[in-house]
Amino acid sequence: MPNKLKAGIKNSAPLSELDEFIKNAIQRKRTIHFAPHYRAETQLQLSKLIGLKPCRVKDYASMELIRGIVNLRSVKDELEIAEIEKAVDVAYMMFTAGMKMAFPGRKEQEIVGLMEGISISHGRPVSFPIILSINGQILHNHHHENYLEEGRMMVMDAGSETPMLYASDITRTVPVGGKFSQRQAEIYQIVLNANLRSIEVTKPGTLYFDCHMKAAETIASGLKDLGLMHGDVKEAVAAGAHALFFPHGLGHMLGMDVHDMEGLGQINVGYDKEIQPAKQFGTAYLRMGRRLQPGFVITNEPGIYFIPELIDQWKAADMFPQFINYKKVDEYRYFGGIRIEDDILVTNDGCRILGKPIPKTIAEVEETMRDGLA
Ligand code: GLY
Ligand code: MN
Repeated sequence: MPNKLKAGIKNSAPLSELDEFIKNAIQRKRTIHFAPHYRAETQLQLSKLIGLKPCRVKDYASMELIRGIVNLRSVKDELEIAEIEKAVDVAYMMFTAGMKMAFPGRKEQEIVGLMEGISISHGRPVSFPIILSINGQILHNHHHENYLEEGRMMVMDAGSETPMLYASDITRTVPVGGKFSQRQAEIYQIVLNANLRSIEVTKPGTLYFDCHMKAAETIASGLKDLGLMHGDVKEAVAAGAHALFFPHGLGHMLGMDVHDMEGLGQINVGYDKEIQPAKQFGTAYLRMGRRLQPGFVITNEPGIYFIPELIDQWKAADMFPQFINYKKVDEYRYFGGIRIEDDILVTNDGCRILGKPIPKTIAEVEETMRDGLA
């Protein structure tokens, strides 16, 4: 069967007739459905076809079509899942190699180059510009000019893209030199617990918003045990106090885009009539909150960060003194950040982490780095 019939397209015409076809449709006052586009050349093509100024085109994108595409792409079929797993398997090689290079004296960009090279050597580009830094407290940090120093944590956030354009998106954080200090291990274990506990509750029928909240509570509870937070954990999280340390969302859909379908409008992808984005700092940046279904592929990426500028701002504004022990927080001022990210498939009765397992526990990371290329 021709592909267009398999896709359910009954009537079609050669592209050379598109101009004429659209003109006729406009004259006959037919509704024209198009998705929002972000490439400038597509925007210009649409502008010419429809006769709208380029800056107005996206205002006329079809919500019906957006909803259709989101429905189609949110649930991944076996072929798509296999593609994402291939992308994670390349990430396994990128990350284990990156870990083995995280020793004092190396420059961040050497490791970025090696990791990107591994993806390219498998015939695949990276799925987004690699984030790699000993300043993990700066989110999406693409500055790679620091030299690694003992005592710092190095965040690596990267992925690979298959020839069918499916992406992986993984984060690991390792101690420079290969051995966690006690302080590093304590914060790392809290982030790992947040990752594990929120994965445990990831299953069909659960709001992804609740998975995020589980991660936030795990973080607040762990920080309370270390004396960085105090008071009632649930109250602290409800008030948003945890966001000083975890100021972003737990994750997002993953597929042909890293933030899958972001171009269609995040709110259309991650939210629906049942749940709308939160307004509170931190949780407001959760890219997806809606109820999970089998076949969804999502990332799970909790983190703890010590952001000196944010700490100063909150302290000066006397934000949540009942929940935050600023004196203790000051002791961690130059700690940096830790994030751990896996790619997760929602299955019929729970979920599973996709691809070859990438070292994640403290013991696994230290073991991988033991024979590093110092
Ligand atoms: N991996 C980068 C992000 O999720 O934004
Ligand atoms: Mn991500």
